[in-house]
Parts: sequence; structure tokens; C-alpha cells
Amino acid sequence: MIIEPKAVHDFYNGVMEGKPVMKSRKLLKDILTAYENPDKGEDPERVMYEVYCYEAEDKIQQGSLSWGLTVMYPECVNGEFNFTRGHIHQDTSCGEFYFGLAGEGLLLLMDIEGNAWAEKISPNSLHYVNGKLAHRLVNTGDQVLKVGACWPSNAGHNYEWVEKHPFPVRVYKKNGEIVCI
Ligand code: 6PG
Ligand code: NI
Repeated sequence: MIIEPKAVHDFYNGVMEGKPVMKSRKLLKDILTAYENPDKGEDPERVMYEVYCYEAEDKIQQGSLSWGLTVMYPECVNGEFNFTRGHIHQDTSCGEFYFGLAGEGLLLLMDIEGNAWAEKISPNSLHYVNGKLAHRLVNTGDQVLKVGACWPSNAGHNYEWVEKHPFPVRVYKKNGEIVCI
């Protein structure tokens, strides 16, 4: 017996049940102050990244899963590569899987003592983020970076913690090279 799929899902393009599920779009002006040298000369309306997300209806139910796609454009701000705002989960018992779909980038990870390191993201790479780690994506390539993710729906996003404890690593393009400082 052939069973027709109930719905059309396309994780590469953020489509669930036949519809694109864009949740948010970050413009440069939304994240400008997080850069070391905010680029005043650049267009504050340029799109830096978009997040597509499919979340369980009952987000607080234990065991529900959310799925997401982050699409990051190949932009730099005064030589610093495009990065996501970054967060740690509100419920630090909730981990997350990231997987590279297109482009090249870095997954920055930081523990609560402020120790930070990075994993390289490329198509097919798989990354496990322990719930006790803050995480941020960086597009270090010349192409769009697409990263898929799956996490428990009750995880929550704690952005304030990262604002108070900024990542000690910044990633720049210098003479065509990727430099972490
Ligand atoms: C999550 C994921 C992921 C993340 C995006 C954008 O927990 O939902 O880590 O979908 O939200 O990559 O990053 P920021 O939420 O830090 O802007
Ligand atoms: Ni997360």
C-alpha cells in the first residue's frame, strides 16, 4: 500500500505543511550594537538572517520538539562576519542539534564560566549543543549559510544572559582569511 504524505515539508527552504514558516527576520539595525565596530555607513535595513521555525502547539509539554532553519546572508560589518544574536536555553537541561545544510560557518559555544570554542559548519555537519552552553552562528563564507536545528519546545531562549556575558571571540575577514580574535 502506498501512503501519500499528509503534508509537504522542505527543511531546506523552511516549508512545513506546504507553507514557509518564517518566524523572524533580523536586519542590521536590530543587531548593530552587538558588533565591535557598528558600521554607521552601511544600510541599517539590510537583512542579516532569517529564522524559520515550526513549534509544537503546546510548547511547555515535556517531550515536544521544535524544528528550525536559520538562513544567514554573506554580510560583514566593518570586517566582522555576520553572526546571530546568540542565546543559552532558559531551561539548561534542554540540548539542541544543529546540522549544516548549505554554505560555511562556525558554531560558537560558550560555557557558564565564559570558556568559548568553535565548531566548523559545512553541508552535512552535525553538532550537538549541550543545554548548558550558549550558542551563536557565524557565516564565514561567501554564500548563504543554512543551518537546521531541532530542540525541545520547552527550552526557551535566554538572550539577556549572553548580553551580560558576551562571547569572548569575534570572527573577522582579514586579507581573505578567517581570523578569530
Ligand atoms: C533555537 C535555535 C535557533 C536560533 C537561531 C537564531 O534555540 O531556537 O538555537 O533556531 O534561535 O539560530 O539565533 P538567535 O535566536 O540567537 O538569534
Ligand atoms: Ni538554541
